[in-house]
Amino acid sequence: GAPVKVNVSKIEAGQQMVAEWRGQPVFIVRRTEEILANLSKIEGSVADPESAESVQPEYVDKKNRAIKPELLVLVGLCTHLGCAPSFRPEVAPADLGPDWVGGYFCPCHGSRYDLAGRVYKAQPAPLNLPVPPHSYETDDVIIIG
Ligand code: FES
Repeated sequence: GAPVKVNVSKIEAGQQMVAEWRGQPVFIVRRTEEILANLSKIEGSVADPESAESVQPEYVDKKNRAIKPELLVLVGLCTHLGCAPSFRPEVAPADLGPDWVGGYFCPCHGSRYDLAGRVYKAQPAPLNLPVPPHSYETDDVIIIG
């Protein structure tokens, strides 16, 4: 499929937009300093903190999984059986556990991911959400694919 251009200028801090690429949802999140700081606090809770086993282009940071830390780009399909995880950016809601700092929750079988798409330990999903190939045309325009 052809690459897709996405203008990310309207994503508010701490929020996401959903694009589409090759018939798949792509989540794009504008991460705040707080979100980025929380990622390092839960390294012990995620299964593959540096994405050694997971799918991502070599040019993204191994831990925050982005080209620019403030913009996360993920394929929005659970690595268990392919459901679309829900965006749950709030920190520590009662239903998502004491180590929850915001992320994605898969409604199908309960897999939890952080706001780098890294799966928590002992979930049905084995791997982090994939990061698709992408690049920046301008500060506000990402090309996916
Ligand atoms: Fe997401 Fe099973 S498809 S937990």
